[in-house]
Amino acid sequence: MAITPPEQKIWWNQPLDKVEGTWVIVALVWCLILFLWMPWWHLYGKQNLSNESYRTSPDRFEKKVQEMVAKYKVGEEGKTGIPVVRPPAGSDVYFLGRLWEWYPILELEKDKTYKFHISSLDYQHGLSIQPVNINLQILPGYETVVKFTPDQAGNYGVVCNEFCGAGHHQMLGKITVK
Ligand code: CUA
Repeated sequence: MAITPPEQKIWWNQPLDKVEGTWVIVALVWCLILFLWMPWWHLYGKQNLSNESYRTSPDRFEKKVQEMVAKYKVGEEGKTGIPVVRPPAGSDVYFLGRLWEWYPILELEKDKTYKFHISSLDYQHGLSIQPVNINLQILPGYETVVKFTPDQAGNYGVVCNEFCGAGHHQMLGKITVK
């Protein structure tokens, strides 16, 4: 029940008030602007990543990562001996998240475009590459593909920004760009 119900209870037959009509038009126009804004912003706003997603399985994906590691490994780092891999410029890069690491460490060339394939072997992780605008949900069973062109030399941090358990805060990776 409305606070001030229409006297005749036939609101649909009463003429539209000017103020109400104006607001309906304002709302409609704004609605259309936002609707068009979404595709426009996607193309020109550099806000959203254009990524693709494919079905995979943890086993299949891990195999691809290990193949790349075996082919292009140039060293190891840290106590656990996590491999440092230098894939050829412009190639496909397979990168995985699991409890609790980003694997492997990558060495890339500046201003070259790489095609990243990313997946998880267990739970949901959040891939965030700092300080660039890459921020993706990484799910087991899905291979996320995104192009990455590092245009600055130095170390990029890889963090997990989706809570994934006790070691979430230690789930750090590294990408070195030369
Ligand atoms: Cu992986 Cu949080």
